[in-house]
Amino acid sequence: MAGAVLDGQTDAVLDLWYGYVGGNEHLLHYFTKGGQPNMDYLGAVRARFGQWILDLCNRSYDQDWLNYQHEIALRHHSTKKNQTDGVDTVPIIHARYLVAFIYPITATIKGFWAKGQAPTKWTPCTMLGSRPDPDDFALVPALF
Ligand code: HEM
Repeated sequence: MAGAVLDGQTDAVLDLWYGYVGGNEHLLHYFTKGGQPNMDYLGAVRARFGQWILDLCNRSYDQDWLNYQHEIALRHHSTKKNQTDGVDTVPIIHARYLVAFIYPITATIKGFWAKGQAPTKWTPCTMLGSRPDPDDFALVPALF
């Protein structure tokens, strides 16, 4: 149901969410090398993010889903960041920004749902890595 509502709106959602990243130097930083944003990287990640929005709405929350989320978590971490796109930008996204980003995406998605039949709620769920450093984990939300 949420997928049907958001299908066709993912570009608008991404314009908003990417606006937060592009409009804040401390977030854009994570797409840069030597202070220069990698525009190809931004574009490639945007496409995968769009797919994830639809997957989030349409797929079953089974072990495959959890594995997919764990993979995304690793891609925010030095374990796998940059590898998918073969780029050489900064190596890790610090956990404090991952946590903080839950709020804008949670608050703003509701405006898009309002254009159709909304799901019941949006609940953040954490995908924690196994390391003790608080900057050394990543997190993704899921829709229930
Ligand atoms: C609740 C918070 C967040 C969620 C749910 C989220 C979700 C995602 C998703 C779905 C992808 C695409 C994964 C793929 O299929 O490859 C992605 C990649 C990425 N995100 Fe996030 N993200 C979050 C926070 C952030 C923040 C705060 C930043 C900082 C600017 C960020 C920067 C990136 C980068 C750089 C990539 C590409 C990683 C790579 O090299 O593969 N994300 N994110």
